[in-house]
Amino acid sequence: MADSPREIVRLITCGSVDDGKSTLIGRLLHEAGAVPADQTAALPLIDGQPDLSFLVDGLAAEREQGITIDVAYRFFDIGERRFILADTPGHEQYTRNMVTAASTADVAVVLIDARKGVLTQTRRHSRLLALLGVRRVVLAVNKMDLVEGSQDRFDAIVDDYRAFAASIGLTDVAAIPLSARRGDNVMTAGAMPWYTGPTLMSHLQTVGLSEAAPGPLRMAVQGVTRHADFRGFTGRIEAGTVRPGDAVRILPSGVSAAVARIVALDGDLEQARGGQSVTLSLTPDVDVSRGDLVAAADAPPEVADQFDAHVVWMSDRPLLPGRAYWLKLGAATVPARISDIRHKVNVDTGEELAATTLTLNDIGRCTLALDAPVAFEPYAFNRDLGGFILIDRMTNETAGAGMIRFALRRSANVRPQALSVSRADRAALKRQSPLVLWFTGLSGAGKSTIANRVEQRLNAEGLHTVLLDGDNVRHGLNRDLGFTDADRVENIRRVAEVARLMTDAGLIVLVSFISPFRDERRMARERMEPGEFVEIFVDAPLEVAEARDVKGLYAKARAGQLENFTGIDSAYESPEAPELRIDAAACSPDEAAEQVMALIHARQAR
Ligand code: ADX
Repeated sequence: MADSPREIVRLITCGSVDDGKSTLIGRLLHEAGAVPADQTAALPLIDGQPDLSFLVDGLAAEREQGITIDVAYRFFDIGERRFILADTPGHEQYTRNMVTAASTADVAVVLIDARKGVLTQTRRHSRLLALLGVRRVVLAVNKMDLVEGSQDRFDAIVDDYRAFAASIGLTDVAAIPLSARRGDNVMTAGAMPWYTGPTLMSHLQTVGLSEAAPGPLRMAVQGVTRHADFRGFTGRIEAGTVRPGDAVRILPSGVSAAVARIVALDGDLEQARGGQSVTLSLTPDVDVSRGDLVAAADAPPEVADQFDAHVVWMSDRPLLPGRAYWLKLGAATVPARISDIRHKVNVDTGEELAATTLTLNDIGRCTLALDAPVAFEPYAFNRDLGGFILIDRMTNETAGAGMIRFALRRSANVRPQALSVSRADRAALKRQSPLVLWFTGLSGAGKSTIANRVEQRLNAEGLHTVLLDGDNVRHGLNRDLGFTDADRVENIRRVAEVARLMTDAGLIVLVSFISPFRDERRMARERMEPGEFVEIFVDAPLEVAEARDVKGLYAKARAGQLENFTGIDSAYESPEAPELRIDAAACSPDEAAEQVMALIHARQAR
């Protein structure tokens, strides 16, 4: 049988090799009881305790996909406690590593070289700790032997650090003078008689921990299973306790029910608590889906679809406001967009800077809009229900991590208005089915020419149409936008919204925009009703489009007089499965228009 469960303490170390970090870690592992490898293999489950929650789940999935995260976990025991120490190297990807490690850490050991004192790096790491909700800091002032064990030097460094730490909200700082090399004040005291506090090891043995699973019941539903005699909702209890008979509320729907049974692997339970994974059955048997949250009926968390949050960017592909990412929070996954970057934070100085994008390692204070409401709690209160990750929908990589500050109420007072005339009524009057014909392709491929001919034919057939052309819309609605990636994303978002409104009006909408990115074309498709979006790839090789160069723009781009030109120094991502591909090099505009008409007739006949 395994030993009685130990209390798990998650530690993160910050500082560089120069500060003696590896020496200190070596010391700790040596002096404490390093845990044998066979007991640590079972990450993330240790002694039946769930470990390393939301971020690591996401990032662990990436590890399987071969993306490396340089966090080394080491394990050691002191007294009744088992320590999981996350060691993060300080190189380029340090933010990603630190976010991974710090998002679950109870205590941080911030290492300082006594000769150097508080450095930019110390401040940067501490700011990240504060942001990621690590409240307890051990300031390990190392290499005291190299400053003759000077109390003055120690006091000066501690005063300096405390003043800074307080300014960023870190108030629980325990400072210990040590020499990792000699072992002074790691386990044995006495080398510096003026110091009367605990050694590092005894401090770690008694340091207060983040309260385990505080507050009322929260269970994120990971799956729904049908058993012979009941339907069960499986998930992990993030917080609180649950007993049969308890009144619960399902979020985001807000439906109420009572717990009928709590089922675990070895039978029914009378009670389950934070950290356990169980299956609940409810009475009445209300609708619950994967991603929902089961909460105490008398203290449910908030539900919202717009947030103010800090976002840490961890991808080489810059964040594009307006682009849809998957947002994963608790067990819920919903499409979400950064609607606004309020500012970027300089982690070295704390300065707030204006920004239109976030790149690798950047931290921004952002506004997010989700496609569906989710249950949440502010990160400062609950890291499990306030922390989220953003997943790039093209590459599936974890592109960012976020910490919710608060929900924005701007949407709460704006409710969809019920309308008496439906889109079907409007379309019926026109005797047609609304449709979006989305022409995509390089500049000069012939999109506008073909779209124009198609519209003429539709018009001649008595169908009601409208043509949205990039060059025209960019003179009006979108005249504030240029050709950066971010602006193109917003360009397409707006035109997709307009196209949606026009299909609501019953029209056949022709859209002729380069629309170079797959992500945004998919967003446009998802904005329409099923079957209403027809993607037409006007496929002309770059050489052909460039040879035509009707507007002379390719020549300008080649001459370096025009930046971010599609096909030259800005990407065009070809459609993977368009409804129609037109070989623009091989057929005339009229032949192309014929192909589109045939497709439309087939659709309208349905
Ligand atoms: S999109 O990429 O955002 O979809 P859009 O279709 O609206 O582009 O506008 C493309 C038109 O703008 C081109 O047909 C061309 O006339 C003009 N244009 C000006 N600068 C650029 C540029 N850097 N890249 C592409 N098109 C440009």
